Amino acid sequence: MLNFNYRNPTHVVFGKDRIAELDQLVPANARVLITYGGGSVKRFGTLDKVKAALGNRIVFEFAGIEANPKYDTLMQAVEVARKENIDFLLAVGGGSVMDGTKFIALATQFEGDTTSLLYHGFAPVPVADDKVIPLGVIATLPATGSEMNAFAVVSYQGGKFPVNHPNVYPTFAMLDPELTFSLPKIQVANGVVDAFVHVIEQYATYPVDGRVQDRMAEGIMRTLIEIGPITVAEPTNYQARANLMWSATSALNGMIGVGVPFDWTTHMIGHELTAIFGIDHAQTLAAVLPSVWRVRKPQKHAKLLQFAERVWDITEGDDDSRINQAIDKTEAFFQQVGLKTRLRDYGIDKAQIDDVIAALAAHGMTALSETGDLGLDISREILEKAW
Ligand code: NZQ
Ligand code: ZN
Repeated sequence: MLNFNYRNPTHVVFGKDRIAELDQLVPANARVLITYGGGSVKRFGTLDKVKAALGNRIVFEFAGIEANPKYDTLMQAVEVARKENIDFLLAVGGGSVMDGTKFIALATQFEGDTTSLLYHGFAPVPVADDKVIPLGVIATLPATGSEMNAFAVVSYQGGKFPVNHPNVYPTFAMLDPELTFSLPKIQVANGVVDAFVHVIEQYATYPVDGRVQDRMAEGIMRTLIEIGPITVAEPTNYQARANLMWSATSALNGMIGVGVPFDWTTHMIGHELTAIFGIDHAQTLAAVLPSVWRVRKPQKHAKLLQFAERVWDITEGDDDSRINQAIDKTEAFFQQVGLKTRLRDYGIDKAQIDDVIAALAAHGMTALSETGDLGLDISREILEKAW
């Protein structure tokens, strides 16, 4: 196992009918900015409940954080936060709203060019801790894990940029599965696949004898395989949705990723596909992951064999056949929940793979994978196989 530090300060408030507890979770004298997306939280009544729970606090609203939140939109919220001296942010929505709100928390008191916050890759952005506005989240879409991590992804000038800082862990994350019952089926399917691929990117690398991490990862994946199709088909099945919600949070709250290598190739290629073609985040992953594995079988041999046996119960055949069966079953699982797994199914021409390669080059994504050996030539092979 590799050395690691682990700290996660987010207070998780999980379960039905918890919104009234916001009164204890948000500082009593806070000037609060509630942030949300295109209006689902208004349509389904969540916003009214949130405002009622905040009682007499001074509350402002910022609506319109879009999917794959744009820097320019977030900077409009930053203006509001500066003008109104906001000292607590409350995100109500999916990954895009939660991520966007983290960026607002960082940018509001940042002195200097706020676009510079976008160019630090996986390193924390250089902002002093006390210059980050605290935030809480009410998650309405189980998928990204943003509710319990310190990451955000912000869209700017044709790219998607990861941003992180230890002080953007939400102080609390309210996770009420019932708030997700209103999701369209496709967003639930997106959530199942995004969570699954988060686990995979921290698992299917090379073995370091991280037994706890591996078995937790396998447990989350088996849970997603069990409940994924059920929660897509039965939106109001509470237990299935509750298990999806906790799987998605557990997949990317750092716990399964401690002391083990990580890959993130599928995500980095997927981000370019979203930026160029507007494909939903999880759908890019559904198309890219099976192909990453088909190209990288030799590098991932031991973990893919373990995955075949422990996640899919595949015990027959030689090594190569077991790995192939596991890849095929995973791809079929993504299709079963409702996502397409080929780039051509998303309307991409084969010639447009050149544009993706150019974007990867422009964003410095030239040494991907758990060992940094995955250059543009291999990304091209992955994209061609995914087409
Ligand atoms: O905007 P509204 O009207 O709220 O509608 C949203 C949006 O159209 C809708 N929705 C959300 N909750 C709903 C609902 N509709 C009905 N009922 C509800 N309860 O769903 C649509 C998609 O929402 P979005 O937040 O964009 O989806 P998701 O949660 O999948 O987030 C995707 C974003 O997260 C980033 C992605 O790159 C993408 O920008 N990621 C963030 C990560 C992180 N912070 O760690 C990791 C991930 O890998 C990912 O990159
Ligand atoms: Zn993801």
